[in-house]
Amino acid sequence: MGLPPLALYIHWPFCAKKCPYCDYNSYAIGWHPEEAALWAKAYIRALETLVRDYPAHRLDTVFLGGGTPSQMPLSVLESLFSAIHDLFPARADAVEITLEANPRDISKTLLQIYYGLGINRISLGVQSFDDNELMFLGRDHNAKVAREALDVVATVFDRYSIDLMYGLPHHTVALWQGRLEEALSLGTRHLSLYQLTIEPETGFYRPFQRGDYKLPENSILADLFNLTHDVCADRGLLGYEISSFAALGQECRHNLHYWHYNSYFGVGPGSHGRVHHNGQTYALASMKNPLAWREGILNQAVGIVEKPPLTPAEVALERLYMGLRMRRGIQRSDFQALESGGYIDGQAYQRLRNQGLMGEDSQTIFLTKEGRLRLDAVVVDLMV
Ligand SMILES: C[S@@+](CC[C@H](N)C(=O)[O-])C[C@H]1O[C@@H](n2cnc3c(N)ncnc32)[C@H](O)[C@@H]1O
Ligand code: SF4
Repeated sequence: MGLPPLALYIHWPFCAKKCPYCDYNSYAIGWHPEEAALWAKAYIRALETLVRDYPAHRLDTVFLGGGTPSQMPLSVLESLFSAIHDLFPARADAVEITLEANPRDISKTLLQIYYGLGINRISLGVQSFDDNELMFLGRDHNAKVAREALDVVATVFDRYSIDLMYGLPHHTVALWQGRLEEALSLGTRHLSLYQLTIEPETGFYRPFQRGDYKLPENSILADLFNLTHDVCADRGLLGYEISSFAALGQECRHNLHYWHYNSYFGVGPGSHGRVHHNGQTYALASMKNPLAWREGILNQAVGIVEKPPLTPAEVALERLYMGLRMRRGIQRSDFQALESGGYIDGQAYQRLRNQGLMGEDSQTIFLTKEGRLRLDAVVVDLMV
């Protein structure tokens, strides 16, 4: 039997500016160019530590996320890729290597360098093709820059995705339909479509609390979600996960590893990992503060926070929660194992089926579109 697949996530936490809706571990306070070598060393040391502690995986995908990895110094990227090749000998070439890029950073020269490094997929953070929405979202690009960036990406890469946000305060079904159709007309074959959420400790939190802005009503949000699935399906992009829409073969292989609950390493400040090792599942976390992480890793290799293995009940909950995000759901045999292990309430499952929130076929058990709108509540209901 071959080695189990591994997905590698690398987090670069810095951005040109902090967007008011964003609660990712990202910071506008930059890094100093003269410290690039220190950052490279820390990333490589963190990866070496993980490979040493959890060996025997086959590297399948790499995802450089952020923050804004298109602002990562090239010297850091080059050192990192060279380390990845050394650490995963003989199977060095991951099948899919994605880099998340912000439109303002895109140039043909930079993309060609990425391609030369082995990056074969770009995820472009467009957010909207409307100038007023981009201004509301506090972005540092406008619609023209986004369109130009997309054109350049499409000339260098076969596989790319764009991120868009919906459910903005003024979004109606008709307005979002127009926005979505416009985005689809640009020919992209993968879209990540996120409903705006207001998170504590973000710039949007207080103004929304005060009532300066209001999210659309829940019934409108449900309509937007349904419409998103229908419009994308009409154009051949299947909603294969709650926020992900792709033409056949264009699905994000890296994210599928998360949802299939395969092992993944997280490298970089605030990154997480899950590793199945010696019959146990380990949850790995890294220090959030970038400098503390870097110094921790470089000085005592303590940037990665070790925790005891997850309990079987925790593993069951995570497996269910991740698997049910996907349209195809989870394998019947896995579902049955969870049920006979006493983690799933069989009666609740029948009730959810009768309510039209869950369904099954000969191989899988899944949430219907209505069920995926209520993922959290359904999982809580299902668990014993
Ligand atoms: C890691 S983030 C950002 C990637 C990249 N730095 C960018 O901004 O384009 C990935 C995506 O999450 C989405 N996102 C971030 N915060 C969100 C929020 N509060 N609500 C909905 N979507 C959000 C955005 O679409 C963003 O592109
Ligand atoms: S949305 Fe992207 S660019 Fe904006 S702060 Fe978050 S990670 Fe940075």
